[in-house]
Amino acid sequence: MFEKFEPTPQDPIIKLMGMFREDPRDDKIDVGVGVFRDNNGQTPIMQAVRMAEDRLHDQQTTKAYVGLAGDEVFNTEITKLVFGHDADMDRIRAVQTPGGCGALRMLSDMLYRIASDRKFWVSDPTWGNHYPIFRQSGFEVDAYPYLNRESKTVNVDALMEKLSTLGKQDIVVFHACCHNPSGAELQPGDWDDIAKVVAKNGIFPYFDMAYQGFGNSLEDDAYSIRTMAKEVESMVVASSCSKNFGLYRDRVGCSLLLGESKETADIARAHILSNARSSYSMPPDHGAALVGLIMTDPELKMNWENELGEMRARMLSLRNKMSIVLKEKSNSDRWDFIADHRGMFSLLVLTDEEVESLRNDHGVYAVAGGRINIAGLKDDDQLNRFADALISVTR
Ligand code: LMR
Repeated sequence: MFEKFEPTPQDPIIKLMGMFREDPRDDKIDVGVGVFRDNNGQTPIMQAVRMAEDRLHDQQTTKAYVGLAGDEVFNTEITKLVFGHDADMDRIRAVQTPGGCGALRMLSDMLYRIASDRKFWVSDPTWGNHYPIFRQSGFEVDAYPYLNRESKTVNVDALMEKLSTLGKQDIVVFHACCHNPSGAELQPGDWDDIAKVVAKNGIFPYFDMAYQGFGNSLEDDAYSIRTMAKEVESMVVASSCSKNFGLYRDRVGCSLLLGESKETADIARAHILSNARSSYSMPPDHGAALVGLIMTDPELKMNWENELGEMRARMLSLRNKMSIVLKEKSNSDRWDFIADHRGMFSLLVLTDEEVESLRNDHGVYAVAGGRINIAGLKDDDQLNRFADALISVTR
């Protein structure tokens, strides 16, 4: 049977993780995969997560099945976190999924059942896994302009011009905040304009929300989604707790949908559940149960928000420091944009040769195109070594 297979390319980020692991150099630097690290190079278990785990250990009495939609406390809390406390709960449905990837796939599989003739549009550039996920669902996927590769800012004019040509046949994927891979952000006024054109043209909005709380604040990072929800009749959001709760390996995500009415929302939810049943059946419980505990206990919630704030502050401080160090070392303002970006990533717009040289000659692991995970750096000689390597390969 298996001799029929042709080799299949590996996902570039997963491949890079393996290459980094295999590299014997002690001073290697991982700015590849999007995992938050503290200044000791550790990805910490958040304090609130630890406390919730203790509680869960003491309180949990069974490992019996929960259900296709997962933990309903989790689903309600994520709905409020994403759509806000004044959200139209009658029209929003949430289904717990295995991670943000699972949420993305469940939503595109659900949409394919009723909209297989529509086209998916992702930003140029976008997270590498968007293409395979939406294509595996069956959709044709194309790109809309996003990044101005000269200024490393969003090319808002080109984006708006493209949106003005799209309509009822189109599903447009937006990064709710902390654009991956570029780090270049749309501003609130841009989202106001985008929401209006999306509603006017009948475009279906599809949000990927993997970094809520990593940009400016939990509330500010949801502005895009909440603004859109006021303008359109229906939309979807894939939300992830990998980064903001540090629950990467526990696979905690949520498919959210806003329906035209209570009735259409219920039916759409039922289609997600039927797809779930025929793939993984029920999502893993542990991580979602922790999030549910944290979000419904004021003390744990405050602890979580404070620690998340510290993580965000570390990323902002690294950004500022990096742009200052690079300015001094290169004697130019070429890298100033790093301070203006938000979230874990900045796309440095490097050639394949430059990325390879960073890896081979300097032990610095960045994703193709020069995406760096700012939170992967230690604020010590590592930051300086990274800056030296970057200047050396781009000279
Ligand atoms: C990333 O972009 O590095 C993260 O979202 C991890 C992943 O699965 O690719």
